[in-house]
Amino acid sequence: MLEEQQLEGQQPKEKQKLTISNLMESVSSSEKPGQDVVIGLSSNPRYLPPKYFYDQQGSQLFEQICELPEYYPTRTETAILRENGRAIAQATGPCEIVELGSGSSTKTRILLDAYQQAGYPLRYLPIDVSDTMLTETAEKLLQEYPQLSIHAIASTYEPALKALPKKQLPARMIAFLGSTIGNLLPEECDKFLASTSETLEAGDYFLLGIDLQKEISILEAAYDDSKGVTAAFNLNMLQHLNQRFRGNFDLENFSHVAKYNKQESQVEMYLESMMAQTVRLEDLDLTVAFEKGDRILSEISRKLNLQEMSSVLSRHKLTIVNNFTDTKQWFGLLLYQRVA
Ligand code: TRP
Repeated sequence: MLEEQQLEGQQPKEKQKLTISNLMESVSSSEKPGQDVVIGLSSNPRYLPPKYFYDQQGSQLFEQICELPEYYPTRTETAILRENGRAIAQATGPCEIVELGSGSSTKTRILLDAYQQAGYPLRYLPIDVSDTMLTETAEKLLQEYPQLSIHAIASTYEPALKALPKKQLPARMIAFLGSTIGNLLPEECDKFLASTSETLEAGDYFLLGIDLQKEISILEAAYDDSKGVTAAFNLNMLQHLNQRFRGNFDLENFSHVAKYNKQESQVEMYLESMMAQTVRLEDLDLTVAFEKGDRILSEISRKLNLQEMSSVLSRHKLTIVNNFTDTKQWFGLLLYQRVA
């Protein structure tokens, strides 16, 4: 009632269009903070959960990666979106956009433009682990799109999917761009698709960006650029752990390694110890000894096959609307619809 009484152009009007919920604390309290780090660094082979990439510095570095000449996925997916934004809006009709891992929402603007041009109402539910990125981006978007309403959720994916507010438009589309699905292990991917599909009601949509298989030299360059931005991004994870858990990783003593594993069709990113050394994370009461050449796996990026992914999606009650791709077939943008 109160909201309706507010006059056009008044300050509070802007506020009521933006809701931000933060699930980050409740997420980490279900498990002791940093237990995932203890488990990962005590495993053989060692690994670190990719969510630790994205502190404020990491999110900024990732934005820079997306603009690198070697990093083709962002510009290829962007081109596919530009080419097909209208077709996507036409296919879905009025529809609210839920985005997993929204970052600076650069690509999403292309979708928002398409829905706006179609004359549809605009509602956006971005989900990201970086709450600073989420808040800054939401504020910019509200200035750029006066019709837009936003419900942002600071969270990892699964808890956010469970906590989505009631649908306000005839349909909902969950967008998962940037081939982030390739960063999940096959089992994780399957679980993720099951819960995503479960979240959707019959008739709702899923928009998925996938990076496709291609020449190895192109893949390896995309994950080890000449300016060293990807290396800095990878190493920043150690800096983040230092801050978060009172650690003493010396970034000078680790190097970034990116290798394509042909058997698994995936780029593997490692942090490699350049010498024998011991690292301590005070808050986790954890001491880790490294030999020279020891590696921590920080990320995998699977390179997928369009037909295979299509059949995986159909097993999860998602039926094809369209598979969009670029002329070189480097990247796929898959629009699927949840069946009953
Ligand atoms: N989803 C992105 C990808 O797999 C993430 C990414 C790009 C990434 N470059 C990276 C992750 C470097 C770790 C390190 O392409």
